[in-house]
Amino acid sequence: VLLFSCCFVLFTLDITRSLAVTSYADKQPLIGVSPEDEKYYKGLFSSNSIRCKDGSKKFNKSQFNDDFCDCPDGSDEPGTSACPNAKFYCRNAGHSPRLIYSSRVNDGICDCCDGSDEYDGKTKCLNTCWEAGKVEREKLKKKITTCREGASIRKHEIEQAKVAIEKDEAELTKLENDEKILKALVETLR
Ligand SMILES: *[C@@H]1O[C@H](CO)[C@@H](O)[C@H](O)[C@H]1NC(C)=O
Repeated sequence: VLLFSCCFVLFTLDITRSLAVTSYADKQPLIGVSPEDEKYYKGLFSSNSIRCKDGSKKFNKSQFNDDFCDCPDGSDEPGTSACPNAKFYCRNAGHSPRLIYSSRVNDGICDCCDGSDEYDGKTKCLNTCWEAGKVEREKLKKKITTCREGASIRKHEIEQAKVAIEKDEAELTKLENDEKILKALVETLR
């Protein structure tokens, strides 16, 4: 249980990412899109149009993130504040990814610790993810250490259990033999 509960924590620290804020949108055509949704949006580049996630309408590449809301569920505008229901994904490398309401994109307030929600150049956001992620990283490190120790203890216990089982089996065999001898003796005495 110990092994499965905590050792599969993925410890991904991406510090190599560029922190440039002004050219963020140019560098990232799928701005605001979460990794799980990338496949869905890539359909825009391989076909003329795709359906909104709720299936209600269709939109094409030029309607994607064009600051005009076409889908009721906001799926055509993850990276702008045009749709009230849209969600913007912040990568927040060094800390935890986050989904914020797209209405907060370029609103002058830094919501994402990586500053990616303010990319129009009007507001400069410092990247505070590394600092903010510090406590969490320490926790994760401790967890990983505990897991390693737990795994090692477990392994040792299993080895000990194996030895104990072998011992028990030998003992049982001996007892069964003794029983046979005793039974024979009882018969003889009768
Ligand atoms: C996308 O759809 C709009 C509205 O239907 C249309 O005006 C525009 O030309 C289309 N763009 C492309 C690249 O197909």
